[in-house]
Amino acid sequence: MSGNVILDVDFARSFFPALNTSWSFLENAGGTLVPTTVVDRVSAYMTQTQVQPGTDFDASRIAAERMDEGRDFMAAVINANPDEIVIGPSTTNNVYVLANALRPWFADGDEVIVTDVDHEANNGAWRRYADTGLVVREWQMDPETGELRITDLQALLTDRTRLVCFTACSNITGSINDISAIARLVHDAGALVCVDGVAFTPHRPVDVKELDVDFYLYSIYKVFGPHSALLYAKPEHLARMANQNHYFVDGNPFLMLSPGGPNHELTAGAVGVSDYFDALYEHHFGDEPADTRQKLTRLFGLFADHETRLGGPLAQYLSAKQGLRLFGPPSADAEKRVAVFSFVADGRDSAEVAGRLQKRGAGLRSGDFYAARCIDGLGVRPQNGVIRASFVHYNTLADVERLIECLDEEV
Ligand SMILES: Cc1ncc(COP(=O)(O)O)c(C=O)c1O
Repeated sequence: MSGNVILDVDFARSFFPALNTSWSFLENAGGTLVPTTVVDRVSAYMTQTQVQPGTDFDASRIAAERMDEGRDFMAAVINANPDEIVIGPSTTNNVYVLANALRPWFADGDEVIVTDVDHEANNGAWRRYADTGLVVREWQMDPETGELRITDLQALLTDRTRLVCFTACSNITGSINDISAIARLVHDAGALVCVDGVAFTPHRPVDVKELDVDFYLYSIYKVFGPHSALLYAKPEHLARMANQNHYFVDGNPFLMLSPGGPNHELTAGAVGVSDYFDALYEHHFGDEPADTRQKLTRLFGLFADHETRLGGPLAQYLSAKQGLRLFGPPSADAEKRVAVFSFVADGRDSAEVAGRLQKRGAGLRSGDFYAARCIDGLGVRPQNGVIRASFVHYNTLADVERLIECLDEEV
């Protein structure tokens, strides 16, 4: 994905003081660590400009500028314009607000499709539509593979379908869905798509324009930033959405879907991710001229290549080892999966196995990771869910080797 340049992982790690430990951090799908540049930005905001932003004394003016910069960067990550996004406390919260805002668009008997693979964030709010007169249909996984098959979606689409909500990539199986192909199919059927990009955005370049999605969500705290989240909506959708905030902010897309407004210091703090990416870019590509999109594409190309190198031996091990069952694609193929590996050990409780691995320095966990329907669909509820190890670009081959060694001894 990134030509001849290879990620200098030691350089990347030098920005993350939390990595200076004897254990391996393998719970990145739950939330990534933040670089010092983020801490610096949050600290600068709070020590210098923790005032109500947007009026004409210095601290207030600078506070607003800092928040704008953060918002601009979060939008740039997915190639959205700043006036096409909303910042909220979490993706879960953003979906609830979106579902409320969209409900008046639909008539009783209209149909919405959700999946049994998705995290509950892109499920629960839509499923509650069933209590208000809408029909909610479930696009179910192939029970053998845990994958969503496009042919199954085709069979669910009707002339009453209004919205299809699905994940870009499962936070359990790591399996990537073909967002463009699904969006095309759904649009041809006259409906809209709402894509949960939370598990995907930390790993691959995303361009919401190219993907042609109606709504896209990601959580910046899983992309090396502070704990907040972004909702993108096509501008023509934002323009006709019911205001969810005070009546007098109607028409301001940034505020009308963010009741109470976004957290100030964390919005400003997101610029620290941009600072980190700039430093990474310069380290790997020098002062080669590039616009923000090219820079992000190149950096995420480096990340994807690195993660695929790490995932290769692990995927091979987890699919070959007797007594272990890996979910999702059995290889690290960058087109098919991200570096999120969930598995169970035959006849063993996942919490018990995870506990043993933790004691040996593997920073991972077990459970359903709020993708409860996916865990049920995979049939692993009786085992207390799955054990999940998830990697991002600052992980190393040593992390993979340690996990394999632990599994060899504990399973
Ligand atoms: C795929 C996916 N979607 C949504 C969420 C929820 O995100 P948030 O914590 O921002 O509500 C998560 C969190 O783990 C997730 O993995």
